[in-house]
Amino acid sequence: MKLYNDDCLIALKEIPDESIDCVVTDCPYHIISGGCTTGAYGNPSGILNHDYKKREYEKREDGIEYLKGTKHQTLHGVLHDSITYTRQGKLFKYNDIKFEDWLPEIYRVLKQNTHCYIMINPRNLAELQTKAEKVGFKFQQILIWVKNNSTPNRYYLNSYEMILMLRKGKAKNINHMGTKNILQINNIIGNKKHPTEKPVELMEILIDNSTGGGQVVLDPFMGAGSTGIACKNLGRDFVGMEIDEKYFKIAEERIYNKDSKQEKLDFSDLD
Ligand SMILES: C[S@@+](CC[C@H](N)C(=O)[O-])C[C@H]1O[C@@H](n2cnc3c(N)ncnc32)[C@H](O)[C@@H]1O
Repeated sequence: MKLYNDDCLIALKEIPDESIDCVVTDCPYHIISGGCTTGAYGNPSGILNHDYKKREYEKREDGIEYLKGTKHQTLHGVLHDSITYTRQGKLFKYNDIKFEDWLPEIYRVLKQNTHCYIMINPRNLAELQTKAEKVGFKFQQILIWVKNNSTPNRYYLNSYEMILMLRKGKAKNINHMGTKNILQINNIIGNKKHPTEKPVELMEILIDNSTGGGQVVLDPFMGAGSTGIACKNLGRDFVGMEIDEKYFKIAEERIYNKDSKQEKLDFSDLD
């Protein structure tokens, strides 16, 4: 296992060509196209705008302001993390890397005849697929993760996420050929350590199907480390990268089961 608390564009330079057996990642992308200038005060409109008005806040013994009745730190009543970033069309701080920045690097480090899974939303799928094919990846298929929860939307409730499955080199069978391309796995509800944390069970299905024991899986955007935990559970080696120190520490603790004083972030009580 090797974990990097760094920008993946820097960390990937340490990874030799054709040394990785599979990539499984949930990459950053903007959740709103063209920025967020449609709502009041330059904030996104609709459900993303549910917090543009100041909420009540309180200063506690540690001298830090919190959103009243929650664990969330604020600046004059405005949440530092999830809501502030959502206003900017993102769910976490570091979200500016472009597909064309990292796709050539993960293509370079993957061995021939391997699989690459990238989680994506319908709006960004076309751009991701086009840019992946440009660097040499071949389209394999789209997997659908059906969740047990839904995100409100003014059209239809979003109750699935997409996983773009690519390959480098020749086609390779998955290990469990009866696996359906619709994966019904419960989402994590409550006690999330990252706003887009993925269930370990979902990552396990992908890793188990595309690698063998001891092979190396790379996640350049590991967040709270679900891909790493899945690797550990399945006896795979893992290379993980995360730029944000807060999430890196959570991932490190979860993967190595280290005793850490890092407070767990809980997004479950945000309405
Ligand atoms: C969609 S989240 C991944 C969440 C993860 N699947 C989990 O289960 O927790 C993407 C992560 O990429 C990180 N990130 C963004 N830009 C990065 C970069 N240049 N290098 C490394 N990590 C980056 C973000 O901080 C964020 O935690």
